[in-house]
Amino acid sequence: MRILVIGSGGREHALLRGLAADPATTDLHVTPGNAGMAGLATVHADVGKADDPAAMVALARDIDAELVVIGPEIPLVAGVADALRAAGFRVFGPNQDAAQIEGSKQFAKDVMADAGVKTARAEQLAPGASEADIDAALDRFGPTWVVKDDGLAGGKGVVVTPDREAAREHVRAVHELGNPVLLESFLNGPEVSLFCLVDGETVVPLIPAQDHKRAYDNDEGPNTGGMGAYTPLPWLPAEGVQRIVDEVCVPVAKEMVRRGTPYSGLLYAGIAWDADGPWVVEFNARFGDPETQPILALLDTPLAGLLDAVASGTLASHPPLQWKDAYALTVVLAAENYPASPVTGGVISGDVVADPTKVLHAGTARNDAGELVSAGGRVLNIVGVGPTLEAARDDAYATIAEISLDGSFYRKDIALPAVEGRITL
Ligand code: GLY
Repeated sequence: MRILVIGSGGREHALLRGLAADPATTDLHVTPGNAGMAGLATVHADVGKADDPAAMVALARDIDAELVVIGPEIPLVAGVADALRAAGFRVFGPNQDAAQIEGSKQFAKDVMADAGVKTARAEQLAPGASEADIDAALDRFGPTWVVKDDGLAGGKGVVVTPDREAAREHVRAVHELGNPVLLESFLNGPEVSLFCLVDGETVVPLIPAQDHKRAYDNDEGPNTGGMGAYTPLPWLPAEGVQRIVDEVCVPVAKEMVRRGTPYSGLLYAGIAWDADGPWVVEFNARFGDPETQPILALLDTPLAGLLDAVASGTLASHPPLQWKDAYALTVVLAAENYPASPVTGGVISGDVVADPTKVLHAGTARNDAGELVSAGGRVLNIVGVGPTLEAARDDAYATIAEISLDGSFYRKDIALPAVEGRITL
């Protein structure tokens, strides 16, 4: 199978690695890609933007792709899947109308209300709201405020704060971007990222993971796209995944079909698990980053056939998924000043960065001298695997010690609360 992957992050590097390992894959291409992907795929760096439907259709035609896998949300929300399907390609990823489940938080709230899915209470504040309107809305929430950018923010547009002035500042900042704000009640309880393959009303869960969204250890510092993740979750009740599937993902999949916008692709349910079980924090219309990196490290089922089953509408007859009996985690190596204004262009060293079983690239490039350099905020994803979560942590942290990039940093506590039994329900 000739496969084109659209995207350039650690998630796409993990997808490429999985696809390359499937004997059904004959030819692998990626656009725009990054410096770590050349060993696995033909990299098409300069063929137009990933969210330009015409450019992506032209590339898929050039390659004669049999399957196109769209990684990030921006092309999905821009309608790249629609254009590819209209041109006759099989696509992994939802059409534009279904991708609104991530593109518009208000749309997601409406779907959940109609599907009877538990989620935070929310109010939208449009740009142009007066100071008095903002104050009145803030009065209706707290003592912890959750202020979300109701546009595409790649997980970075959320501020969760007990400081009312900080909440107000984020409302203003989002409005200055021209986007509406969503104010939400705060959901307490540990977070679960459950990824489900969805083909109409057929829902197949992957193993559950947990992300670490704050920049620094002990969940301090600003929100980021994600600083590390682990899977599976030893603290999640045995029936946890099935409850999320039954109470969240299946009702949403059915509601999307009922609305005439059936979902095809990966539905990411961001869940807070409290005394009543699963509550939805957010949905994403794509594989999460960095959770995908450890999840795919444990998947034994051939990935190309699995994604193709979703794309061709045959997921219901796909065999059950096979997983390694192990734990995996990913630690993100971030550039200096991430997430505010990451420093790029720093030279990365360490032979292990060329080994995609241990290191997946995100913001990397080659400079004029051919050296590997940082080119984004999240630079590398270090993957560890082991028979216990502690062993997986040891594996990842041993690898990261072999890498150097001036000014870079990473969290030392990925999965540590779970290892130490500090996550209680
Ligand atoms: N891990 C957060 C995200 O993918 O949005």
